[in-house]
Amino acid sequence: MTILITGATGSVGRHVVDLLVAAGAPVRALTRTPAAAQLPPAVEVFEGDLLRPDSLVPALAGVERLYLFPEPATAREVADRAKRAGVERIVVLSSDAVTEGSDPGHHRPVEEAAESTGLGWTHVRPGEFAVNKLSLWQRSIREEGVVRAAYPTAVGAPVHEADVAAVAAAALLEDGHAGAVHRVSGPSALAVRDQVAALATGLGRAVRLVEVGHDEARKDMLRDGFPEYVADYILAFQAQWVDRPAPVHDTVRRLIGRPAHDLTRWAADHRRDFL
Ligand SMILES: NC(=O)c1ccc[n+]([C@@H]2O[C@H](COP(=O)([O-])OP(=O)(O)OC[C@H]3O[C@@H](n4cnc5c(N)ncnc54)[C@H](OP(=O)(O)O)[C@@H]3O)[C@@H](O)[C@H]2O)c1
Repeated sequence: MTILITGATGSVGRHVVDLLVAAGAPVRALTRTPAAAQLPPAVEVFEGDLLRPDSLVPALAGVERLYLFPEPATAREVADRAKRAGVERIVVLSSDAVTEGSDPGHHRPVEEAAESTGLGWTHVRPGEFAVNKLSLWQRSIREEGVVRAAYPTAVGAPVHEADVAAVAAAALLEDGHAGAVHRVSGPSALAVRDQVAALATGLGRAVRLVEVGHDEARKDMLRDGFPEYVADYILAFQAQWVDRPAPVHDTVRRLIGRPAHDLTRWAADHRRDFL
């Protein structure tokens, strides 16, 4: 039962690979740059690019199950190559933005591509990744021990990438997930102010929240290298969740049999990144 993991070097994909290897499954990984992939020795690494669907043909030979990283531009062609190769099951890394009606046409086309094959499909729809805190807050925490936030009462339920992977791995390894949509979140909804406190606990250092205006937050993000449209998207997203309970799902507990990891655990797992 060979399983092909696309996005295998990604924050979720690396955990999926580790979980499958630990379960004793034969694992193949797709990457555009095998030399830089640093995957476990048990993994067969194939070079391929989702934007060039034919490049996946060698990696797909003999594969029964596929974890599909979302690339909408070529999703139909990739799903078609998978079906022709004899793949029986596709687990899509999607987004809860689809459920919320705010997906900008990125993830739903990939879900549709998997559905259109007539194969067994499962959609994993995570909400906001905790790992986003790295790009947002890593520099200011490292350099100044602060988080500057325009919307400290914006509420979210950031999910640990290991939990997204655990749900995907369950759908890849176990039966009974065909046609399922798995929404995945962190264990509780927290305002940004409380997220900063949880992070500080996990990092074992003081982190001060500094409230700033929208324009100053935007300027900070541009300085940290965010493109303007991304900074505007993130700030609009935060503004939308001010004092509004973010959805929390019990999917991890239900499928994996343990609670989802909280932000304190996530921060402890990423302590080195904040040194
Ligand atoms: N951030 C969020 O809050 C959030 C929320 C919901 C859903 N998501 C979804 O999750 C995705 C990120 O997942 P992640 O964190 O696991 O990944 P990641 O850390 O962003 O890494 C990207 C992965 O995708 C692979 N990849 C990208 N383009 C590729 C291509 N053209 N061909 C082959 N491989 C390609 C990369 O492989 P190589 O570089 O090795 O080729 C790498 O493994 C987002 O793109 C989004 O769709 C994110």
